Amino acid sequence: MSKVLIRAMVLPMTGSDRFYPRGEVCIENDRIVSVGELGSSPSGFLPDRILDLPNDVVMPGLINTHTHAAMTLLRGYADDLPLMPWLKEKVWPFEDKLTDEDIYWGTSLALSEMIRSGTTTMLDMYASMDQVAEAVIKAGTRAVLSRGLIGNGPNGEKALQESLDLFQRYQGAGAGRVSVMFGPHAPYTCSAEYLKKVIAEANRLGVGIHIHVAETLDEINIIQEQYQKTPVQWLDDIGLFGGHVVAAHCVHLTSNDMEILARQHVCIAHNAESNMKLNSGTAPIVELRSRGVVVGLGTDGASSNNNLDLFGEMRSAAFQQKLRMDSTVLPAYEVLEMATVAGAQTLGLDDVGMLAPGFKADLITIDMDQPHFYPRFSIPAHLVYVAHAGDVRTVMVDGKFLMEERKVLTMDVHKVCQEAESRAKRISAELNG
Ligand code: NI
Repeated sequence: MSKVLIRAMVLPMTGSDRFYPRGEVCIENDRIVSVGELGSSPSGFLPDRILDLPNDVVMPGLINTHTHAAMTLLRGYADDLPLMPWLKEKVWPFEDKLTDEDIYWGTSLALSEMIRSGTTTMLDMYASMDQVAEAVIKAGTRAVLSRGLIGNGPNGEKALQESLDLFQRYQGAGAGRVSVMFGPHAPYTCSAEYLKKVIAEANRLGVGIHIHVAETLDEINIIQEQYQKTPVQWLDDIGLFGGHVVAAHCVHLTSNDMEILARQHVCIAHNAESNMKLNSGTAPIVELRSRGVVVGLGTDGASSNNNLDLFGEMRSAAFQQKLRMDSTVLPAYEVLEMATVAGAQTLGLDDVGMLAPGFKADLITIDMDQPHFYPRFSIPAHLVYVAHAGDVRTVMVDGKFLMEERKVLTMDVHKVCQEAESRAKRISAELNG
């Protein structure tokens, strides 16, 4: 039995009018018991631990709805290149050299960065997902994991089998913190026949599908040429949107595509910074949201971002839409919702993303007693337009502290950095002499 009381400014993300300048959150084991003004804890609640942080904001942990965690090993290895040379000459040859152990350490590097930047949950797509799952279990975060499936590649069938094995081994692992989705890579790397197999398995097991959709104009042209349809139309026609689907990117959409996504309740993982860095384009997030589409935020992999900081991602997502449309769109609170409540919906997790009784105790505190946060007119505006990774003081997932006073408690961050450095440099030396 563990009971924790956190006294702080409370932003529960349960409605834009809810904020407790002097509030408290009570936690019992892995769940939140109460949220409210100071003194609102249930009678008889005797905490084992009290955190008095009157100048911190406590809020739900941030949710990264699209990443390739182990790609931290490629951070800074290939930048400022056009998309295809970037992939073909740099990223894919590097990835070919990755061992299972490399992926474990690359993922651990990502998870330590995520913890230090207030991200408590990720949706990942990569290979060697057993290693990713083990890294997540060790780090103590929450994750939805998808084995990336290149249906048109030589390992399409093997990778599908690995997805099934991943489900058998890791669905519900880490005391329920780990769950599994299927991860067909994209419309241009999977045939209709292959996708139909994936859909059937996903339906049979009751799990979601995580796929890149309409990321670049190249993709639009390839699918148009092959099928005379947009990627969204094509996926809809083959039945991909029947169950829970996370579509990453969705940069190039027609209004008909948006109608389909809304009608089929497809959730979107928006990756503003990756889309900017790779010159993919600007996703029509305002239009999607106005149609009721759920949109979460993602960083994508560290080779196209190059960090995993969702605070930066919130700021970029807001500014990018304001630049494209007008300054009134995507106000700060809505961006915070995308990084929390909508992120949880995107991942199909119904008990994280808000601070509310009965919800999982996945929360962070942010140190607002710093020059860049004064004067404190609007906490949501400060969190989106001002805050950055280094402002996060405390991280809790499932009622357990993963970071206190910026010290990560579940992993040896120094060792993780050293391992990542030597492994990435080993691969680079193999490739480039
Ligand atoms: Ni991606």
